[in-house]
Amino acid sequence: MKNLLVTGGAGFIGSNFVIYMLDKYPEYNIVVYDKLTYAGNLDNLLEVSDNPHYHFVKGDICDAATVAQAIQQYDIDTIVNFAAETHVDRSIMDPDAFIQTSVYGTYVLLEAAKQFGLERYHQISTDEVYGHIPHGQSSKETDKLDPRSPYAASKASADLMVNAYFVTYGLPVTITRGSNNIGPYQYPEKVVPLFSTNAIDGLPLPVYGDGRQMREYQYVLDHCEAIDLVLHKGVLGEAYNIGTGVEMENMRMVEILLDALDAPRSLIRHVEDRPGHDRRYSLDIAKIRALGWEPRHTAEEAIHQTAQWYQANEWWWRKIKSGEFKAYYQAQYGKRLAESGGQ
Ligand code: NAD
Ligand code: DAU
Repeated sequence: MKNLLVTGGAGFIGSNFVIYMLDKYPEYNIVVYDKLTYAGNLDNLLEVSDNPHYHFVKGDICDAATVAQAIQQYDIDTIVNFAAETHVDRSIMDPDAFIQTSVYGTYVLLEAAKQFGLERYHQISTDEVYGHIPHGQSSKETDKLDPRSPYAASKASADLMVNAYFVTYGLPVTITRGSNNIGPYQYPEKVVPLFSTNAIDGLPLPVYGDGRQMREYQYVLDHCEAIDLVLHKGVLGEAYNIGTGVEMENMRMVEILLDALDAPRSLIRHVEDRPGHDRRYSLDIAKIRALGWEPRHTAEEAIHQTAQWYQANEWWWRKIKSGEFKAYYQAQYGKRLAESGGQ
């Protein structure tokens, strides 16, 4: 492994992964291949833009010719696929791009990996493929997939295709299924950056329903370390869950975030719930632990640090929130907030 094509590398987790890998493996060449959708942002990669081992190609993973060209030009031996449409609420509004990128785009990358005989294809997946998990249970990698939103279904479809290429063609694949990541450079549509930036501006925090849904909030660099470990030590054909093993109610997350920013509880606004909202995700992380990985941050530490990163980095998020985001926010929250008596 020496020359990696990191698809979706200009997004949140992808860019953190690229920065982490260039620092840890100065001899590797990292090519970011990204369509630069609303969520892709080259500001995320500014700190490595002068590194001679970093390259950027603007392209769609659904475009087989451009994918092939990038693989040949940079002598790629490994694909790590982060590229996806990733926001559950947007998948409810309009699923089309989710299906295109995660289903067809993943197929295009798998075909390219097969055609060029790559050493490894690694798929970045999610705990949402397992669906809602009742209290007292946690998902193992061998559990059946039961996705319940268009986003989750598009990701589960990709996992199934990755597995099919392993079984049918012997393609050297691995999959990681991560829980909710938080940290620097997350587009402020996701709950922790949305609530942090709203709280900094004294705007209401639109909590869906009773706010007692449970998520496993993990620090993005912990996730990156685990992906790195699976790339180097994971068993081919296997999936690995990556989380903290500890889930938290959203209301608790909101309290930690408000305290980190010294903002008042009065900003909390309960609004109409997300349709089909999964109440709880919970991962069994014994398998990745057995490879020698432990999360370095608790959810409390991750939320606290993330809120403070947004406080210290207004240069990064203010221009996003004043662009395309405004129309999205109005469509997603305008009616909900008006009905709850908010702004
Ligand atoms: P993100 O939305 O921040 O970034 C996605 C990136 O993919 C963007 O840079 C975008 O431009 C790019 N992209 C989208 N469609 C593309 C296409 N057709 N061709 C090329 N590039 C394209 O996403 P993220 O939160 O960093 O998530 C990255 C991956 O991790 C996704 O596969 C997601 O499903 C998975 N994941 C995310 C989380 C999380 O909490 N954010 C947790 C588990 C798994
Ligand atoms: O679990 C992993 C997944 O985590 C990833 O695969 C997805 O790409 C990522 O978007 C994330 O999905 P969620 O739907 O869990 O994340 P989100 O930040 O949108 O919401 C987290 C929780 O907060 C969820 O219970 C919904 C709630 N929420 C979210 C928003 C945006 C609110 O209460 N209000 C909000 O405005």
